[in-house]
Amino acid sequence: MRLQNQTAVVTGAARGIGFAIAQRFLREGAQVMIADLDGAAAAEAVARLDEEAPGRSAAVAVDVSSKPDCMRMMASAAERFGAVDILVCNAGIVRRAAPIEDIAPETWDKVIGVNLMGCIYPTQIFAPIAKARGTGRIIYMASVAGEVGGVSAEITYSVTKAGVLCLTKAVAKQLAPHGITVNAIAPGAVRTAMTDVLQYDASVQKSIPLGTYGDVEDIASAAAYLASADAKYVTGATLDVNGGLFM
Ligand code: NAI
Repeated sequence: MRLQNQTAVVTGAARGIGFAIAQRFLREGAQVMIADLDGAAAAEAVARLDEEAPGRSAAVAVDVSSKPDCMRMMASAAERFGAVDILVCNAGIVRRAAPIEDIAPETWDKVIGVNLMGCIYPTQIFAPIAKARGTGRIIYMASVAGEVGGVSAEITYSVTKAGVLCLTKAVAKQLAPHGITVNAIAPGAVRTAMTDVLQYDASVQKSIPLGTYGDVEDIASAAAYLASADAKYVTGATLDVNGGLFM
């Protein structure tokens, strides 16, 4: 119970990695706002979470690439559960790989909007509140693709995830004097609806030193650690959870 009575906002939490993080945070004692573009799926996620932790999660429909939506998300979490302690910017999208010359401006705008601005806007809203309280945790979901340059995923994805890694360090430096830590998790290949889009073949699994894809719980464990007092001296870090795919 490392997150007793903490309030967390997790974006993209209706399914996949985000849902696993929300569930783990609840088991560690937190209250969690499930924020997702798919409001119906977010409500279903809350119904599932209510079975084990009644009343300690709530859903909000939000597009993280919209700053007004992000303001509404943060306000509704605070209204429902009290001041937000932990912000997890997990929502992300990916497109199938394509030659650089074929990637349309609209695709760049879309992927940058969700993957990068979807981290920046919630941070802009959370930072002043956390500074005033002298405490706070920010966790960004990056990717191994942002470290090595994605092959399976499109270039837009890798570029935005590399941006997230730099955002982590820059914001960590700025917020450290205020008692706020900022870290990133860089998953490798984790089986979710997102990786179904990428249609991994057997060669991907063979390239992983530990020999298997990751589970969503592996990422949730990393998030719970970074959100907890166990990681109070960790900031600006990227936690690679990738089976050795990149080291
Ligand atoms: P997923 O596709 O299963 O879930 C993503 C969730 O984000 C969905 O519920 C979706 O509705 C929501 N979402 C999408 N656009 C949104 C928006 N504009 N506003 C709010 N919510 C939005 O993906 P998965 O696999 O759970 O990925 C979660 C994060 O982990 C992403 O940032 C992804 O890039 C990252 N990641 C995933 C890896 C994997 O192998 N699955 C590997 C490396 C990083």
